[in-house]
Amino acid sequence: MKQIPDTLYAQTEAPSNIAIVKYWGKKAIQTPINPSISFSLSKAKTITNIQYTHSPNPLTIEFLFESHKKPEFIPKLKTLTERLVNYLPFLKTGNLLVQSSNTFPHSVGIASSASSMASIAKALFEIQIQIKPQFDTSVKQNFISELARLGSGSACRSIINGWALWGKTAEVEESSDQYAIDINNGLHHNFQHLQDTILIIKKGEKKVSSSIGHQLMQQHPYKNGRIDQANKNISNLLTILRSGDFVQFARICEEEAMSLHGLMMSSSPSYTLLEPNSLLTINRIKEFRDKHSLPITFTLDAGPNIHVLYPLSISKRIDSFINEQLKPLCEDEQLIFDSINNIT
Ligand code: PMV
Repeated sequence: MKQIPDTLYAQTEAPSNIAIVKYWGKKAIQTPINPSISFSLSKAKTITNIQYTHSPNPLTIEFLFESHKKPEFIPKLKTLTERLVNYLPFLKTGNLLVQSSNTFPHSVGIASSASSMASIAKALFEIQIQIKPQFDTSVKQNFISELARLGSGSACRSIINGWALWGKTAEVEESSDQYAIDINNGLHHNFQHLQDTILIIKKGEKKVSSSIGHQLMQQHPYKNGRIDQANKNISNLLTILRSGDFVQFARICEEEAMSLHGLMMSSSPSYTLLEPNSLLTINRIKEFRDKHSLPITFTLDAGPNIHVLYPLSISKRIDSFINEQLKPLCEDEQLIFDSINNIT
């Protein structure tokens, strides 16, 4: 039998993703109160290197982010490895060194939990395969997506290229609360090469974390209404992704973005992550769209930054509008021209 080396290595990368129908609120461990749909990005990624050394002692974890120690991330990794021990038994013992870096500038307020947890889950899986190579590859993607979900809910969608659906819905038989699935089949060209320019309205860490936001949904007065709204939007979006109807797509994007922030503003305690320039930007996008009748819309993550969405076919026209009218509203005029990643 082949001898397993004492130290094993894995290097992986995973993209960030942006949800169009948002996941906001949890049921049991990292399962969503409603299904969500997102697409993965091309440029915004996390790269992770893992070094695992065998030892009979309980697992120790070290973490370096862009070559610097980041102790505040260790509790998250501890929770992750404890949750994953039943899936990846090597995590019971040994020494784990995790080193991650992002392709996008840090502290610009782009959520990196999805890309980082997805790349860590991929790397941990690769270590397990080196120790015990027998694995049913037909379920590999679902399995890794489930591992990623246990780190951060939205991370399970970052395992899929292009468009992903996470959460059980009667609309799609194979859908699951445990992992995300690929929904790229039959996609209209409007959405195959979707552009996403991320406007950095305000840099820095957000004031209230997403895990607090998820918790506040448990007692939220609008919880049931929100679940109905998300399910309706999932059903409609699945049709729109195939028909290519950009007007209806924009309606869902904006309703979902504003609902997410509306839920934050109506939580108890209430809070807002939007900045004055977030609203100014939204108004400018709508005015430009009304004036020129062009397919352009936006979405928001849990923060003040704006994702401007439009098909590749009109990107020249939109990019000049963004540079002239929206860039001055960004902190230090910072923005990232990104797009959906390659659908495989
Ligand atoms: O995966 P979490 O726990 O960071 O939550 C992400 C929630 C949103 O980004 C606001 C929405 C989503 O579906 O990605």
